[in-house]
Amino acid sequence: MDNETDGHALTVIDNRTGRSYAIPISEGTVRAMDFRQIKAHEGDFGLMVYDPGYPNTASCRSAITHIDGETSVLEYRGYPIEQLAERSSYLETAYLLVMGELPTKPQLEEWIHDITFHTYVHENIKKFMEGFNYDAHPMGMLVGTVGALSTFYTDAKHVSDPLSRHIQTQRLIAKMPTIAAFTYRHNRGLPYVYPDNDLTYTGNFLSMLWKMSEPKYQPNRTIERAIEVLFILHADHEQNCSTSAMRAVGSSDADPYSATAAAAAALYGPLHGGANEAVIRMLQQIGDKSRVGGFVKAVKNGEDLLWGFGHRVYKSYDPRAKIIKKTADEVLEQTGPNPLLEIAKELERIALEDDYFIERKLYPNVDFYSGIIYQALGFPVDMFPVLFAIPRTAGWLAQWREMIEDPEQKIARPRQVYIGPDRRDYVPMGER
Ligand code: CMC
Repeated sequence: MDNETDGHALTVIDNRTGRSYAIPISEGTVRAMDFRQIKAHEGDFGLMVYDPGYPNTASCRSAITHIDGETSVLEYRGYPIEQLAERSSYLETAYLLVMGELPTKPQLEEWIHDITFHTYVHENIKKFMEGFNYDAHPMGMLVGTVGALSTFYTDAKHVSDPLSRHIQTQRLIAKMPTIAAFTYRHNRGLPYVYPDNDLTYTGNFLSMLWKMSEPKYQPNRTIERAIEVLFILHADHEQNCSTSAMRAVGSSDADPYSATAAAAAALYGPLHGGANEAVIRMLQQIGDKSRVGGFVKAVKNGEDLLWGFGHRVYKSYDPRAKIIKKTADEVLEQTGPNPLLEIAKELERIALEDDYFIERKLYPNVDFYSGIIYQALGFPVDMFPVLFAIPRTAGWLAQWREMIEDPEQKIARPRQVYIGPDRRDYVPMGER
């Protein structure tokens, strides 16, 4: 043995040299850097691990969100998502994610007060947003505007100052709904509505979206609660693509507005937060229950994806999808039936009985039913990823703070396996 370990270890025999190594195992994990000592010859760089897309790489140790993808478990700080969706509010859940514990009554009151206090944006943000085309995608506007916030809060650069981190956290959670609502009003050419700080976080969001000439907007309680539940379900999901972007950008000590803009940009893609938009387009394209079979066949032939199905971590039913399916029924009772729900249910039924999906353990994910609710509530499809980004901001910030406070974390900087040409000399233009 070339090194000793007193705990559990993985014995690795390098057939190139015949040498054997004990690689310590801790928390079900081996450290990639422990492989660097494995060298084929003197001067060899040492063994690296290759993991495109990182499906088998833990990039951090985290105490925020626990997922068991085999048994459909999702917990924030140990609390099951089902209990939070039923009993908590979005801001209480955001506090839990960011601060680590459920708040006491005074702590929650202070948190709600501070976030409410920060909902307004600088007037120049309005001017900044006026520069976007009338048909700009709301997610593009959100990404740009959140990035622009960093120019308004220059104190945000002090990422090693806990107080600054806390203020930026509250500002970001507070301002996301305001910016999101402004993107919606901008697309419609409607005047922006300022926050109403008498309303709840979600009630105020609905007011900024839909208030017209009435002196005070009164949110529908069922719809307000449905949005609250959706926000709780979307608040965090451990090391997904956008959270990894947040951590990667934050690891260079960039300010949290810039890091959040990067995270939102990662969320924009149809394989991530843009999937809810893709689901609606897919259901509209199918158009009728009778055409579901034909669509599933096309998916199996590799001609399309079944949007809203499959997940990197869940190899069983996404617990969020289960709750959303129930919420969809409650919302549609208020708003009237959405024919797309019937197509979605038929699609789920057929897919879950089909060997292609069974063998690959493909089940509905969070995006499969959320778009149907958003559509029933009157949101245009291109607002859907924005509705995902608002609540995910709390998760991004909780993860960013954890990363900053973790002494083991370094700037994110993966290695590569170089497969390009060997060294060669520059060829003058006339000789190419
Ligand atoms: N429809 C059809 N086939 C699929 C799907 C799907 N939605 N998802 C995965 N597969 C197939 C895939 O082609 C592969 O088949 P094969 O083994 O024959 O090559 C197999 O299932 C394994 O899939 P994978 O692409 O290796 O899985 P992944 O972990 O890399 O990708 C995913 C996960 C979510 C990107 C993928 O399932 C997908 O593209 N789903 C559709 C988009 C979607 O709904 N995204 C939202 C994810 S949940 C919300 C969020 O976190 O943003």
